[in-house]
Amino acid sequence: MTSTVGGSDPTLDDARVQHGIRPLTHEDLAAAWELGRAAFGSDQTPTPAWISEWRTQRAWGIFNEDDRLVAQALDREQQQWFGGRLIPTSGVAGVVVTPELRGTGLARKLLTTLLAAARDRGAVISTLFNTVATPYRRLGWEEVGALKWITLPTLALASLGRPAQIRLRPAVEADVPGLLSTYRLVAQASTGWIERSGPLFPSEPEKVLAGHDGITVAFRPGGAIEGYAAWDRGSDRDGAGYLSVPDLIGLTESATTALLDMLGRWASVTPTLRLRLPDRDPVLLLAEATNSRVVSRQPWMMRIIDACGAVAARGWPLHLSGRVDLTLEDDVCPWNAGRFRLVLANGVGRLEPGGDADVKLAMRGLALLYASASGPAVLRRAGLLSGGDEGADAFLQAASTGPAPAILDSF
Ligand SMILES: CC(C)(COP(=O)(O)OP(=O)(O)OC[C@H]1O[C@@H](n2cnc3c(N)ncnc32)[C@H](O)[C@@H]1OP(=O)(O)O)[C@@H](O)C(=O)NCCC(=O)NCCS
Repeated sequence: MTSTVGGSDPTLDDARVQHGIRPLTHEDLAAAWELGRAAFGSDQTPTPAWISEWRTQRAWGIFNEDDRLVAQALDREQQQWFGGRLIPTSGVAGVVVTPELRGTGLARKLLTTLLAAARDRGAVISTLFNTVATPYRRLGWEEVGALKWITLPTLALASLGRPAQIRLRPAVEADVPGLLSTYRLVAQASTGWIERSGPLFPSEPEKVLAGHDGITVAFRPGGAIEGYAAWDRGSDRDGAGYLSVPDLIGLTESATTALLDMLGRWASVTPTLRLRLPDRDPVLLLAEATNSRVVSRQPWMMRIIDACGAVAARGWPLHLSGRVDLTLEDDVCPWNAGRFRLVLANGVGRLEPGGDADVKLAMRGLALLYASASGPAVLRRAGLLSGGDEGADAFLQAASTGPAPAILDSF
């Protein structure tokens, strides 16, 4: 049974009409904010950051027969680091379906369209932060990592001491290129960190500095920046004071230690530090982190949009040469489906159509391997990989060995 709520209100009947899918325009901005606000509990009026994101990126919407927006998703044109190379990525955000039409296939339709359009603009992978995994799994994304904030008692850093050769000072505008290149040096060696450039990341020095209460740089006299910490003083209203540190990036042990020592000296006013850190960060090897706690964990998922393009775009283990034949299964991005030969040599990869595949790989499995998040043994036990032999598994295991996937920026 269906019921009509009002002339232009979405009803269950709308799910059966031919939904119009199109890119959103400036005229749709108010409706888009409202649809997202109702789902995510945002402010009444759009924030400047949201407006600028929606103006510079491609948003997709589904409209019902009354031309009312009933579903939307944003395709962010971003780049992420894999194997030392920048990978053109579709960062998917703001996925919402109007409550009355959830479960009627609108997200599937919308995201299938978004993925095809993202491929047309050159994106080879897609990433997103998920509030629920199953709808994205059904469409080929898989959880590969999580953005974590941890807390640490500030006093835990009290005994580190400051290395004599390192100086600290507040960053000034002239430091901004050095801060960005410090971040990039570490991002380049990561699996998944976002490239902080382009319209999504302001690079104007005054805007970078204004983004935090403070940015402290670590350097040697006469030398370049060796590390920095961006920090924000949290309010004391919600309990004991804390200092948030979204970026703590040291290129050397000395720089990281000096920055940790500086943070340890906040103990009298901020007994707790909140740090945004990837797993196995050097900070966790230098600081006394026994009493650290994960206070927030945002899982993120990845999908391969264009398997051939994605394999060619990233760097692969330099000392691995070989090949394996694969059959990929993909009903959402059908251009990926079929038989392929994965060839790796000298750090370069290619996926050629053809081969005598007896290894079957689901797209979620390919995402996990690509992101070095899981190896073939786990994929087999999850039903994402079948066929083949020990040799194929050993090759895929070696191909998928990289730093643990991580992202510092949520979207
Ligand atoms: C999550 C959301 C976008 C899904 O949209 P939707 O239109 O209901 O999803 P669809 O009907 O297209 O379903 C797609 C697939 O996911 C499954 N699915 C949908 N919602 C699901 C849920 N909450 N839990 C488990 N599976 C779900 C469907 O069974 C379907 O599988 P199938 O196509 O293989 O049969 C929608 O429920 C929503 O707007 N939720 C509130 C906002 C939100 O959480 N957004 C996600 C932010 S990351």
